[in-house]
Amino acid sequence: MTLTTEFKTKPPAGRLDELAAECQLTADEKALFAKFGSLDEGTANRMIENVATTYALPMGIATNFKINGKDQLIPMVLEEPSVVAGASFAAKLAQSGGGFTATSTLPIMIGQIQIVHVPDLKKAIAAIERQKAELMAKANAKDPMLVSRGGGVTDIQSRILQTARGEMLIVHLHVNTQDAMGANAVNTMCEAISSDLETITGGQTRLRILTNLAIHRTATATAIWTKESLAQSTKNQFTGEQVVEAMLDAFEFAKNDPYRACTNNKGIMNGIDSVVIATGNDWRAMEAGAHGYAVKNGRYTSLTTYSKTKDGDLKGEITLPVAVGLVGGATRTHPLAKIALKILGVQSARELGEILAAVGLAQNFAAMRALSTEGISRGHMKLHAKNIAVLAGATGDQIDRIAAQMADEKNVNAARAKELLEK
Ligand code: MEV
Repeated sequence: MTLTTEFKTKPPAGRLDELAAECQLTADEKALFAKFGSLDEGTANRMIENVATTYALPMGIATNFKINGKDQLIPMVLEEPSVVAGASFAAKLAQSGGGFTATSTLPIMIGQIQIVHVPDLKKAIAAIERQKAELMAKANAKDPMLVSRGGGVTDIQSRILQTARGEMLIVHLHVNTQDAMGANAVNTMCEAISSDLETITGGQTRLRILTNLAIHRTATATAIWTKESLAQSTKNQFTGEQVVEAMLDAFEFAKNDPYRACTNNKGIMNGIDSVVIATGNDWRAMEAGAHGYAVKNGRYTSLTTYSKTKDGDLKGEITLPVAVGLVGGATRTHPLAKIALKILGVQSARELGEILAAVGLAQNFAAMRALSTEGISRGHMKLHAKNIAVLAGATGDQIDRIAAQMADEKNVNAARAKELLEK
């Protein structure tokens, strides 16, 4: 299947006609595409290229979060069952220890400039150091608005990179991007000083781009889950001490085994990404930053850590890069992102980052608690069973009845759903 070269210049309705004809979409399928929903056609068409329609996902609101003493509602956009419920449950249990405490660094992003064929690397680094103030001023001149709001370049650092194609000079521009994620500002600044860097170093600049490994823009969240709340969470099938010990074992597994750490961190990102998406931020940037950070010491490990307090309770902690903004990108253009930010009630990008850290910790706690006690399938099963019932053709109250029966029987599959539906 292929589309005409005019496809991209057509309005969305014209694109849909062409797409429908080429891909043999039925009238019903075409009608679904034609419904733009809360992201209207004009806005969607300005956001990306070749727009044919919008794609809806559920937005759920996680409850029970208390972060830095403030009750917080968390809008989450994702397709996976049990995530919103897991976060809300973890947050409820965390209230036993006073909720989440979260802090963050200044919003410093890093831009990278790659310089090759530098005749004398050491001399070049010294020369950049001498001209730092001028370079910083030139970069700042690209974004006077950011500077007037207290942002702008805070430092320039250089290092030598050994590669198979010889030594390269990598210059890092540290930029306080305030309430923006900052990719555009940082990239523009890197480009603005690249010819000066060529003059100073005698080399040739190549890539000029932000790094998603935003190690200077992190948020940290901690929480304590009391052993009493942990026991209650299992309906006292386990003692609090047993849950704490099991979770510490689970943590050691994730800390020491990259196979487990990867899944552990995926669970963390279930929570974080869904808030990042709800607020119109770039979840791929968040993902890249998180996984890069998880391997920053040379071995991929868990983004969370757990320990036992002197009272025998469970303390969890997470730190990760939080390259998110309240301005720019889809945060202001997507009508639902604006509302999500209003629900969150955040005043700064740092505050949003702190919430993300708390949600990530909550999500990880929820998964680890379930995995180290009753197992993950029970919670997952109920919603999964509903989806299977719908796929089998159940409607209305049939969905709940069939799903409940399949979950009780621990036999959730399409064939059983069909059988029950026929009955
Ligand atoms: C599933 O989306 C996420 C989990 O696998 C996370 C984990 O294992 O920690 C449940």
